Amino acid sequence: MKFVFLGPPGAGKGTLAVRMTELLNAPHVSTGNIFREAIAAANPLGLKVKAIIDAGKLVDDGTTIQLVRERLTQSDVKDSYILDGFPRTIAQAEALAGFSNIDRVINFDAPDDVVIERLSGRLVCRKCGFNWHKTFNPPEKSGVCDKCGGEIYTREDDKAEAVKKRLDVYREQTAPLIEYYRKKDLMIDIDARPDVDSIVENLKKLLRL
Ligand code: AP5
Ligand code: MG
Repeated sequence: MKFVFLGPPGAGKGTLAVRMTELLNAPHVSTGNIFREAIAAANPLGLKVKAIIDAGKLVDDGTTIQLVRERLTQSDVKDSYILDGFPRTIAQAEALAGFSNIDRVINFDAPDDVVIERLSGRLVCRKCGFNWHKTFNPPEKSGVCDKCGGEIYTREDDKAEAVKKRLDVYREQTAPLIEYYRKKDLMIDIDARPDVDSIVENLKKLLRL
């Protein structure tokens, strides 16, 4: 099955995608991760998007749609995927409908105070991209990823000013997708406030896994 994970920044889309990818037998495709890898590699895409992402704004639709269109031509995602962070605008959703048929949209619902607390404590592994959290899921040894030994850092766009911008952008450009997909009868709403294990259990029930 082909899934879209939708929700505000910090709702836990990436964390839940990592947990659900095996259960759903669906590769995790995160546009944010692809952009961050390009930035780390300092390749032309990375150089183009770095300042935009650091400021908490959206990369232009043309660049993002092209990136996802190409990624979805690969054989591993022919029958199933979890799209995390795409689409984020109505234009992206309409483009996606032109090149792939999604089965379900999971709407991760969490209020601003919850997502701000999650983003302000997030720690990311530079090597494997795993999302740790200072309070909710700290690595055993400060600054080092338990999973791969990589260095841990704080995302530039998790600083207070960029978080505020990302929440504004979400409300203006991404939240309209909730109604868009509800009308198409693809939407499953999930309360994203509980701990990760509870959300996994709730998702399993909702998806009859
Ligand atoms: P992206 O990387 O997609 O960022 P985002 O949507 O803002 O979402 P986040 O990754 O911040 O949050 P998340 O929901 O994945 O939460 P996480 O699981 O990490 O995009 C970054 C940027 O790239 C964008 O701002 C934009 O510039 C650009 N971009 C990407 N896609 C684009 C597109 N389609 N169009 C245009 N531009 C695009 O969890 C957060 C923290 O909380 C973690 O520390 C985690 O450990 C913790 N946590 C998670 N769940 C729980 C829980 N249940 N309980 C307690 N703690 C939890
Ligand atoms: Mg994420």
